[in-house]
Amino acid sequence: MKFQFSNQFRQQFVQYQGGTFKLVDGELPLLDKGQIFVEVQYSTINPIDRIMYRAKKEEGFVMGTEGNGYIRQIGDGVDKGLIGRFVSFTLGGWARYAIKDINEVIIFQDQSGLDPRKFANAFVNPLTGSGLIDLAKKHNAKAVVILAASSQMAKQMIRLSRSLGIETVNIVRRKEQVKDLIENYGAKYVLNQSSSTFFLDLECIGGNIPGDIFAKMPPKSLMVAYGILSKIRLSFDSFDLIKNDKYIQSFFVFRWLNSLEHEEKKQLFEKVADDLQNNKGQIFSTNIIKEIPLEEWREAIDESEKIASQGKYIIKCARN
Ligand SMILES: NC(=O)c1ccc[n+]([C@@H]2O[C@H](COP(=O)([O-])OP(=O)(O)OC[C@H]3O[C@@H](n4cnc5c(N)ncnc54)[C@H](OP(=O)(O)O)[C@@H]3O)[C@@H](O)[C@H]2O)c1
Repeated sequence: MKFQFSNQFRQQFVQYQGGTFKLVDGELPLLDKGQIFVEVQYSTINPIDRIMYRAKKEEGFVMGTEGNGYIRQIGDGVDKGLIGRFVSFTLGGWARYAIKDINEVIIFQDQSGLDPRKFANAFVNPLTGSGLIDLAKKHNAKAVVILAASSQMAKQMIRLSRSLGIETVNIVRRKEQVKDLIENYGAKYVLNQSSSTFFLDLECIGGNIPGDIFAKMPPKSLMVAYGILSKIRLSFDSFDLIKNDKYIQSFFVFRWLNSLEHEEKKQLFEKVADDLQNNKGQIFSTNIIKEIPLEEWREAIDESEKIASQGKYIIKCARN
């Protein structure tokens, strides 16, 4: 039997309608087999949300690459005991409610006093960082070079790499970020790409940073394109790639998650939940700098970008 929503649940989300994104009222579809109905508490603003906001022109698309909240209703086949449990999910997060497949959400342990704000960024970055470091492990990497290492996800990767004995070489673009990574994240190697000695430090020739760094890396190195913060077109020396058997590949967290077996994904979700709940987020925690109500999503997109190094803006999606 499908669950029919009553007027008690009034959906509202940030949706692309008639050529622009706006906060609008919406319909709640029927709950299908294996699905859960989540009362959303918090979401966040990620770089990918900014890309979607500026480039996505798909009628009906709902913003918010991630969100969290409490399971209020369940579809057929879902354990009744999960009603009331706290979960984190991906896509459609800038909404009052979300409907998700139970196998695609992180289910947190039933703990009293859980603060949903601390879990606003529990999905996209922890899973992306895990996926990238998993790639490094599969590649038998002893070290990884992280660009834009001041980002919240890079900080998670630094901590995750250390826990696995993988060294990180971190590149940032401001002096205070060097200090922050060394003092607060235990990073050993941090270089400032804006420093006049940067290219001498790296013995690079200047120009496009990823291309130049890749040129300096040893044979069989792998470069993974997973972000587009600099918005520049990269260039590489084809001779170096061929001669030294180097690789370039992309990484997109949703594609990677879809490639995992159910059990692998479950273990990964449990690892993130365990770290955030029982280990004080020693690997996957995010710095949160401001909370805004869902109504203020538009202004917050640009405002938060200017101070992204300090931490995330989180969006309160639950009605008061
Ligand atoms: N492929 C995937 O599946 C996937 C999934 C999740 C995240 N990502 C990517 O991972 C990256 C980090 O995400 P996040 O949420 O951790 O970001 P974030 O916390 O919002 O931080 C962005 C950071 O990048 C720095 N930055 C911005 N433009 C830069 C540039 N041109 N050169 C160097 N540094 C720059 C900013 O520092 P300043 O203070 O210097 O501006 C800021 O510290 C983003 O590119 C995001 O799109 C990819």
